[in-house]
Amino acid sequence: MEGFFVSFEGGEGCGKSTQIALLCRHWEASGRQVLSVREPGGTAIGEVVRHLLKYHPDNGAMTKEAELLLFAASRAQLVREKIQPFLAEGGIVVADRFLDSTTVYQGSGRELPAALVAAVNLFAAGGCRPDVTFLLDLDAATGLARARARHVDRRDRMEQAEESFYETVRQAYLILARQEPTRFCVLDAALSPEDLHAQIRQTLLERGHGLCS
Ligand SMILES: Nc1ncnc2c1ncn2[C@@H]1O[C@H](COP(=O)(O)OP(=O)(O)O)[C@@H](O)[C@H]1O
Ligand SMILES: [Mg+2]
Repeated sequence: MEGFFVSFEGGEGCGKSTQIALLCRHWEASGRQVLSVREPGGTAIGEVVRHLLKYHPDNGAMTKEAELLLFAASRAQLVREKIQPFLAEGGIVVADRFLDSTTVYQGSGRELPAALVAAVNLFAAGGCRPDVTFLLDLDAATGLARARARHVDRRDRMEQAEESFYETVRQAYLILARQEPTRFCVLDAALSPEDLHAQIRQTLLERGHGLCS
């Protein structure tokens, strides 16, 4: 049996969590086995790494090299402990961020060498790649405003970033999507949640994942 792996990418506030909730609800209502995972995190070990990366009081001093390796450590655990076993059973895995986030945030965002980031990604995930990756593309100002409106009292490190960083991330995602057009599907995240959900299901149908539409 072979499962199906879909990931969602895009800057903070683009609507990943919203779309994942809609898609998982749809699949669960039709009786499918769905595993929803988030990065960093998704395992007991990964959730501790998540806290370190996002909320630890001293994480302002974290080097970009340490940041890269912590993301990779969380993913290495998630792939082997959760994703691969679930796919092997024929399940559907939905990931809130995966490899591409590392390529974009640690590579382009933090300006770590692309070849080095790619090597770390390969080591962490092995051959585990999503079948389809939805990139929810949104202009930097709108993404930042949405992310900041979400929780004003406890912003994490990424939500404190500048608009220029959001724009760098956006452009890096678009370049990545052009490099792998068969895996990526770029959607306009300024559309309503309902319209986006419909486009996601239509895309899965068109790309031959009828069972998963
Ligand atoms: N398509 C959309 N149009 C307008 N607002 C949206 C849309 N999708 C999500 N939102 C809102 O924007 C904020 C960020 O959405 P969220 O799904 O949490 O994004 P992400 O998980 O990518 O950071 C939330 O307040 C959410 O209700
Ligand atoms: Mg989210």
